[in-house]
Amino acid sequence: MSTRSRFPHNIRVWNRGTMKLNPIWKLMALGSLLLASVIGSFAELDFGHCERVVKNWADSSSSREEHVNNDKRSLKDLLFFLHVPRTGGRTYFHCFLRKLYDSSEECPRSYDKLHFNPRKEKCKLLATHDDYSVMAKLPRERTSVMTIVRDPIARVLSTYEFSVEVAARFLVHPNLTSASRMSSRIRKSNVISTLDIWPWTYLVPWMREDLFARRDARKVKGVVIIEDDNPYDMEEMLMPLRKYLDAPTAHDIIHNGATFQITGLTNNSYLSEAHEVRHCVQKYKSLGEHVLQVAKRRLDSMLYVGLTEEHRESASLFANVVGSQVLSQGVPSDATAKTKTFRSEASVTISEPGSDKSNIQNGTSEVASNITTEAKSGNMTVKTLMEVYEGCITHLRKSQGTRRANSLKRISPANFTKGTRTRVPREVIQQIKSLNNLDVELFKYAKEIFAKEHELVSKKLISTSKRSIGDLPSEIRNVFGEMGDEKLWKLLPMALILLLLFLLFLFVNARRRRTSKVKI
Ligand SMILES: *[C@@H]1O[C@H](CO)[C@@H](O)[C@H](O)[C@H]1NC(C)=O
Ligand SMILES: *[C@@H]1O[C@H](CO)[C@@H](O)[C@H](O)[C@H]1NC(C)=O
Ligand SMILES: *[C@@H]1O[C@H](CO)[C@@H](O)[C@H](O)[C@H]1NC(C)=O
Ligand SMILES: *[C@@H]1O[C@H](CO)[C@@H](O)[C@H](O)[C@H]1NC(C)=O
Ligand SMILES: *[C@@H]1O[C@H](CO)[C@@H](O)[C@H](O)[C@H]1NC(C)=O
Ligand SMILES: *[C@@H]1O[C@H](CO)[C@@H](O)[C@H](O)[C@H]1NC(C)=O
Repeated sequence: MSTRSRFPHNIRVWNRGTMKLNPIWKLMALGSLLLASVIGSFAELDFGHCERVVKNWADSSSSREEHVNNDKRSLKDLLFFLHVPRTGGRTYFHCFLRKLYDSSEECPRSYDKLHFNPRKEKCKLLATHDDYSVMAKLPRERTSVMTIVRDPIARVLSTYEFSVEVAARFLVHPNLTSASRMSSRIRKSNVISTLDIWPWTYLVPWMREDLFARRDARKVKGVVIIEDDNPYDMEEMLMPLRKYLDAPTAHDIIHNGATFQITGLTNNSYLSEAHEVRHCVQKYKSLGEHVLQVAKRRLDSMLYVGLTEEHRESASLFANVVGSQVLSQGVPSDATAKTKTFRSEASVTISEPGSDKSNIQNGTSEVASNITTEAKSGNMTVKTLMEVYEGCITHLRKSQGTRRANSLKRISPANFTKGTRTRVPREVIQQIKSLNNLDVELFKYAKEIFAKEHELVSKKLISTSKRSIGDLPSEIRNVFGEMGDEKLWKLLPMALILLLLFLLFLFVNARRRRTSKVKI
């Protein structure tokens, strides 16, 4: 305190421009020099320590990886979907994985981290927001991993919007006490709420408290006039994006979230040393490179890496790489188990507090019943899987859209739509990029992997389609989904030959039919 009060005085000494430095000032200068050097060496020590911690962790992580890497393309006994929040993984879960796996094959999820032990069950599917460190609890050599990566800017903005959306649902309550009481009641029942799931366990209550405080403030003030309709900067209604990004919670959980999750270093990690490694990387940006390398190797070793942005191609790749293997592995199970499955599914379905809980079940199970029958009889193909998926996401998106609109009504005029993201100022976008520097690099890398895999699978499909001419139209559609023009031209001659063969086939068929008509 005393130094602070003396400081302006010292500045005044300088400002006067007098050459005489009083003795106290000299002493202080000497003292601060000494202090600076002490702090400097401390920081160095700290850096050295951090460097060792991070390097040790990186070495042990990559050595564990090596012997798993050999056969990454074949689906193992257990599929672990490492679901990075806000990457669109929910649609994969509901519209692909739930169609491919019976709910009895799903591993218990880790809402109770202390007692979580997926090894116990004979499960085949684990879809969770848990980070990579959960692998320590899984049979590593019999586990395939898949994930979806998204542009970090979009991921961060979506995290903000979703925090607001879920928190705003609680505004039906007259006050925070009553809202919190309601969510603890939900917790006691069988339904799993968003609030039980990391990272929402932290992000939603934080935002909820903030929304209630702002609403109370508005009540006290009386009339509130909102001039600017930018939902990312509307102090009166909700926490501005800028403030959200700067908060310690965002640093703990959101920034570089994908990299930390893929490396098992999140705030929710099972690994005890994870927190020190993460803190070191957050403190010394240069150490991030080690983490990034581990993250890249992890992506390399995964069975499937999708991109939120390349939605259609990602879905098609999933169906061809993962879906096809699950389908060919699927042992027909007895039909009686099925009806039971559907009922139990409802109680596990993740549901948020508030209204229309049953929406999602409705959206998926309508189309599901027939398809599951097909899958179980071993008759579902990659093509039908894609059809089911398309139908399912339409339902899911619709119900999600309705929920969002209903929730955001409570903080009107704030509203998030496709168009509003252009309202985020450029400096804030820059800020997100720099706070998520590792995720920016990882996203670039994921795009490279995706392009390679997509090309590989497309080539494979071409060669299979040569064999089975009957399936030609659908295969062509899959392969040419969204390829670059260049590749398309290279493939054109082959496609033309296939098309000719197909036409010939149709022609012959048509003739045969005509002749049979003549016979009658
Ligand atoms: C909160 O709302 C509930 C339900 O209306 C009411 O019983 C309670 O007194 C309120 N609490 C406060 C602190 O206003
Ligand atoms: C994780 O982050 C939340 C939110 O900032 C914090 O409250 C919690 O203590 C953190 N947990 C760990 C293990 O660091
Ligand atoms: C669910 O589907 C049933 C019948 O298909 C319909 O009656 C019901 O209204 C639907 N529920 C919701 C919440 O959409
Ligand atoms: C289920 O299959 C039957 C016969 O195969 C068909 O008539 C019915 O429309 C199908 N239902 C759905 C929801 O696809
Ligand atoms: C599989 O599909 C084919 C043609 O769609 C049909 O003839 C066959 O009966 C089906 N098999 C089963 C077990 O449903
Ligand atoms: C928010 O935007 C959506 C999409 O444009 C619209 O359907 C909805 O009515 C809007 N909500 C409010 C409260 O204005």
